[in-house]
Amino acid sequence: MRRIRLRFAGREVEFVNREQALRLIEDWAERGTYPVQVVYGPEGCGKTAWLLQSAEFLKELGFEVIYVNPINKEVLAELSIVDLRGEFMRLVREVISQNALGRLAWLAFDMAKELIKATRGKIAVIVDDAFQILGVKESAIYVKALLNLIEYPPESYERIVTIAATSEGVSLREIGRHRWAWSTPMWNMAKDSFKQLYDQIPSNKPPFEEVWKTTGGNPAMLENLYKVDWNIDEVVNKLIKEKDLSHSFIKKWSNHLGEAVNDPDYLWFNAPEELINELIERNLILYFLPKRDPNQWIDQPPPERDPELGIGKYVAWQTPLHREAVRKALRELT
Ligand SMILES: Nc1ncnc2c1ncn2[C@@H]1O[C@H](COP(=O)(O)OP(=O)(O)O)[C@@H](O)[C@H]1O
Ligand SMILES: [Mg+2]
Repeated sequence: MRRIRLRFAGREVEFVNREQALRLIEDWAERGTYPVQVVYGPEGCGKTAWLLQSAEFLKELGFEVIYVNPINKEVLAELSIVDLRGEFMRLVREVISQNALGRLAWLAFDMAKELIKATRGKIAVIVDDAFQILGVKESAIYVKALLNLIEYPPESYERIVTIAATSEGVSLREIGRHRWAWSTPMWNMAKDSFKQLYDQIPSNKPPFEEVWKTTGGNPAMLENLYKVDWNIDEVVNKLIKEKDLSHSFIKKWSNHLGEAVNDPDYLWFNAPEELINELIERNLILYFLPKRDPNQWIDQPPPERDPELGIGKYVAWQTPLHREAVRKALRELT
């Protein structure tokens, strides 16, 4: 498989590792997905990079591949029928110019249907970061529509792979209530893979161990730190603002949050649901981590517990920097 090249920290890097996650794609390519595969994980953990690499892989495996990312306004169409591709790209340009980004996800769906009719072959639909744009209710309808495509296609087909990825935990909960999708988490990069990415950044960087402890293996955080010349405070301040860790929010929950920064599992056992929802909505934690059985994770699972990185058995801070943002907001309260 050709490794794709990605923009990272002001340069081009080759897609690193994620061997287990790519084997999973091979497995799905052989068997098809049923029901729809929904992938979730910390923001910036590498979902999009993996999906773009997967699009390349699936193409090599003989699939017609459609990838859409409404948030990045990014679209890939690896289609054997040139006319269909042309028509699809024309519609894509139209909805992007109208800023009707939710329509992008539906265009991918419509195109998958056309592809089934036209090829009866192997079709992959990859929908990245659409749930935020579609909202909770429409996301559920969308996933149901993808499932319908698998179950009641307009023509018989050889195989279908449908994957939807999100960092957003709220719609995930709604979708999880139905049998339409199977959701599997992906964690930040494992230490050895993360080291390979770190090595591609030129010198004048803090030692690897330090960067590992600060980022917990999250490539986007590595990139953010690089961009601000490794000024951790700047990244933390940005997070405080982005996550809207306002005085009133922090004050309201200070007791619970004070415990949770020391042990995220405190949230599992002791925190009110309202707070949990707030933390999930703000993309600060991953809640309800499955067993660290590799079959229950897209790639290598996180450790069973790692207090230093903010990983508990059931709940984890998305990265140590997310935890640090809460910690700093708490400190500034007093
Ligand atoms: N396996 C990888 N190899 C090389 N670069 C990666 C890898 N995973 C992520 N990155 C880079 O890290 C950054 C964040 O990853 P991204 O895929 O955007 O995260 P997510 O989609 O989970 O928010 C991007 O610049 C991406 O190119
Ligand atoms: Mg992404």
